[in-house]
Amino acid sequence: MDSTTCDFHQLLVSKPNGEVIMDEEGNDPEEIDHKDICMEWEAILPTLPKQKGWMADHLVQYQGVWLSPSGLKGVMLARHHFTCLPTDIILSTSPKAGTTWFKALLFTIMNRRIYQFSSHPLLTTNPHDLVLFIEAMFDQAPTASPVKDGISSSRLLSTHMPYSLLPNSVKTSCCRIVYVCRDPKDALISQWQYLKRLRPKEMPPLPLEEAFGLFCDGVSHFGPFWDHALGYYGASQESPQKVMVLTYEAMMTDPAFNIKRLADFVGHPLDPEEESGGVVERMVSLCSFENLSRLEVNKSGVQQFTAQFMVPNSNFFRKGQIGDWRNHLTPTMAESLNKITKERFGGPDLEFSL
Ligand code: A3P
Repeated sequence: MDSTTCDFHQLLVSKPNGEVIMDEEGNDPEEIDHKDICMEWEAILPTLPKQKGWMADHLVQYQGVWLSPSGLKGVMLARHHFTCLPTDIILSTSPKAGTTWFKALLFTIMNRRIYQFSSHPLLTTNPHDLVLFIEAMFDQAPTASPVKDGISSSRLLSTHMPYSLLPNSVKTSCCRIVYVCRDPKDALISQWQYLKRLRPKEMPPLPLEEAFGLFCDGVSHFGPFWDHALGYYGASQESPQKVMVLTYEAMMTDPAFNIKRLADFVGHPLDPEEESGGVVERMVSLCSFENLSRLEVNKSGVQQFTAQFMVPNSNFFRKGQIGDWRNHLTPTMAESLNKITKERFGGPDLEFSL
């Protein structure tokens, strides 16, 4: 993580009393575990099904999920090391569904009594430095977990892991999960544009037609896209108090209403004085695409998610609109994607404006 992270995150040993336990030879067993997981990852990689990658050479399929090889390492480490607390709030998103935006929104909602809008951390810190990805947390430090000094009583973390791959402690604890999904046509275009910029210069660009074919076949980061959404949707049907499903489109169409819903769900409801005092409107405006994308911190700097994966902050802000797919997909392509979505999603709750 870059240096700004250190201003906001204190790295704590994850054992309940903060103690690091050593074995007789002075080794930390967690450190040994970490090496074992890395060795297991190296051993399993060549055995997994492979498909063409969007950014690097290929994606691999692990337990039905398409991941980059380094993404798989992050997932395996997270599944082993991450211990969820019952008070945790986990933002889970389908890639390019608005993770950066929802990190900003949830951080603002949960910490609104700590920070003034005029000197808010989001004015000087990229949302990814305020809310870390679980699958990127353990790349370097096996026993570290991030908490922000003076933060609201709940930790706020994020993930792209599908429900099926979540660490057990997330599934079994009483934490709350906010899942965000987006019209697959816009998610596809956003992902293609984003990864195009991260693709090594020596690799030929991935044509949109090829990306489209891969996406429809389920071969995209953390895909298949539809399985990702259905996993969380199923969990929200079973445990509505634990999993809430929201879409990029719903937040864009009625941010005030959905911010209130989010605030209720994460246990920080707005009181009448806040509502009448314009707090919701100020949160909407602070986290808006127009505001965040113009800030110097988001125009410069990088996210060093893992040793291998670095993303310029500016890459997280492109158009921030509903329907940019119209500028890229042919009507036939759009119709094919709509057809898959209708067939896979079926019910009314997860239908986008197709
Ligand atoms: P586009 O590529 O369609 O513009 P993620 O954060 O999950 O990587 O998603 C990135 C997408 O969310 C990009 O979509 C980006 O422009 C958009 N985005 C980023 N910040 C936003 C904001 N504050 N409000 C709305 N959309 C935002």
